[in-house]
Amino acid sequence: MKIWIIYDSKFGSNKHVATLMQELLSPNHEVQVAYAKRISPKAVLATDPDALLFGGPRRIGNISYTIRSWVKRYAKTLQRKQRRMKKIAAWETRGEMKPETANAESKMERNIYEKNLKTRELWVNLIEKVPVEQLPQELLSLNIINETSLGNGQLEPEYESKVRAFIQEFEA
Ligand SMILES: Cc1cc2nc3c(=O)[nH]c(=O)nc-3n(C[C@H](O)[C@H](O)[C@H](O)COP(=O)(O)O)c2cc1C
Repeated sequence: MKIWIIYDSKFGSNKHVATLMQELLSPNHEVQVAYAKRISPKAVLATDPDALLFGGPRRIGNISYTIRSWVKRYAKTLQRKQRRMKKIAAWETRGEMKPETANAESKMERNIYEKNLKTRELWVNLIEKVPVEQLPQELLSLNIINETSLGNGQLEPEYESKVRAFIQEFEA
C-alpha cells in the first residue's frame, strides 16, 4: 500500500510515534511521513495514497487544531473528488488528567476537564469524516508522563509495544 503518516507535534512525542510507525511499515509498504503544517491535503492526495495514518496531541480539551483542520480539509477534498481511502487510522497523545480540576474554581478549567473526558468521541467524529472502504480500527491513545508546563514529558513506558500492536492491526 501507499501510506501517508501525517502528524502534529510541539514537543516531539508525536513526531517520534510517526517515525516509529514509518519504520514498522516500511518493509512492506511505500510510506511517507509529514508534519501537517508542512504539507497540504491536496499534495498528499496528488500521490494517490491507499491509506492514511494521522495523529497528534490533545490541546485544551480538544484535538490539536493543526491535525483537526488538516483532516477536515483532507476529507472535504476527497468528498469533492468522490474518492475513498482504502484504510485510515488515528492516534493521540495526552497529558495526565488532574482529578482536582473536575472541581476547579475556574469554569474554564472545569469545562476543559469535561471536554477531556469526551476526547475519544471527538476523534471518532473526525475519523468518520474521511470517506474510507474499511471500518477504521480503534483509536490508539498514548499517555505522556512527567510533563511540566515546558513540555519535556515522556511517552509512557509501554508506548512502543502499543504502537507495534496498532500497526500490526493496521496491516492485517
Ligand atoms: C497548550 C497545551 C494544552 C494542553 N491541553 C491538554 C489537554 O486538555 N488534555 C491533555 O490530555 N493534554 C493536554 N496537553 C498535553 C499535550 O497533550 C502534550 O503536550 C502532547 O501530547 C505532547 O505531544 P508532543 O510532544 O507531540 O507535542 C496540553 C499541552 C499544551 C501545550
